[in-house]
Amino acid sequence: MFLTHLECTACGQRREWKRLQNLCTACGKPLFAIYDLERVRKLECKMHSSLQGREKSLWRWRELLPLPKDVEPVSLGEGGTPLLSAKRLGREVEVDLWVKDESVNPTQSFKARGMSVAVSMAKYLGAEKLAVPSAGNAGGAMAAYAARAGLEAHVFMPCDTPRANIVECRELGAHVTLIDGLITDCGAEIAKRKETEGWFDVSTLKEPYRIEGKKTLGYEIAEQLDWKLPDVVLYPTGGGTGLIGMWKAFDEMEKLGWIKPPSQSASPARTSGVPGSKRPRMFSVQASGCAPIVRAFEAGEKFAAEFPNAHTSASGLRVPKAIGDFLMLHILRESKGGAIAVDDDEMIRAVREVGSKEGLFVAPEGAACFVALKKLRTTGQIESGESVVIFNTGSGIKYLDCFQERA
Ligand SMILES: Cc1ncc(COP(=O)(O)O)c(C=O)c1O
Ligand SMILES: [Zn+2]
Repeated sequence: MFLTHLECTACGQRREWKRLQNLCTACGKPLFAIYDLERVRKLECKMHSSLQGREKSLWRWRELLPLPKDVEPVSLGEGGTPLLSAKRLGREVEVDLWVKDESVNPTQSFKARGMSVAVSMAKYLGAEKLAVPSAGNAGGAMAAYAARAGLEAHVFMPCDTPRANIVECRELGAHVTLIDGLITDCGAEIAKRKETEGWFDVSTLKEPYRIEGKKTLGYEIAEQLDWKLPDVVLYPTGGGTGLIGMWKAFDEMEKLGWIKPPSQSASPARTSGVPGSKRPRMFSVQASGCAPIVRAFEAGEKFAAEFPNAHTSASGLRVPKAIGDFLMLHILRESKGGAIAVDDDEMIRAVREVGSKEGLFVAPEGAACFVALKKLRTTGQIESGESVVIFNTGSGIKYLDCFQERA
């Protein structure tokens, strides 16, 4: 294994990885897993050239994930999802459009990636009972991986979470508590009770390994695009683990020599032999009824204030306050991307447009990115001919309640 330690994303303090832990005890911010990438680079020289013969799941990136080599991961075959060319929709807005279809993951969303890695590590480090606040899909994924690992699962969700998510969690054997409030209220309830109940909290970014699973999105799109990253990434943003995870993957890929650092992209001579490209401009897509990152981005803030009266039927985007806000805002600015809000009725209409034109029944969160793409083309923030990757983070099948009136 190449994991060496954990490091705080804000104060930089180092932590031992060999025990269960949540946030930095010095400053309360998220911890990142740090690897000896120099060793990976030396020992696994051109590891990516040996990838072809490996399993399809995200565990193909084993050297870049935690968990000792001889420990079997808790896996349901997550990751390795298709990157589909969306020619019809792409042609309409004159971009080279790709959809990373995460709806084909176990439990039908990208949350499976984070939970496979987090539950594997929690089990290895001795956790017996896991708890998570969820907008829906994370709860389903946690329930599945906890069941697979033989651990107890406690899922806290808002009462108005899509019914499919609630049923799924129960049928996967989780203890489900519905809270009259938002995901932040669910998180507060767990924080209050976890000590006495003996729960390990696997909330977004409050433990260090869900993000490790999510970062494989970055490795996969690089591999699928032949180690040339797209010009633009559109990511439906709640807590932001995928966005933050992908940026971490790009950092790691640069250190591994798999892609060029931005400062070198204009200097082919210095990078000869490196098959990479410059990094994408990253855009956060949120719902107009809950857009804390968009507001903070536009206001030039470093942190995002809690969004009042949060509401949207894209339940995964109903996150009024995210602990990784400062990380997301930094990435959006560093990448010269941005943040954009989309109305609920626009995203629900876009589900049918994407479905009928590309054959994908996308989640409203994924649909929001297609609306954002059109808006960003209109404003000129995305130019004609650019390559764009949209993340369809889940399946429309979990959101049937949203479509009833349009039957
Ligand atoms: C389908 C879907 N898309 C997007 C998100 C937001 O993901 P993140 O928390 O990584 O920003 C969620 C989170 O619940 C989700 O379920
Ligand atoms: Zn710290």
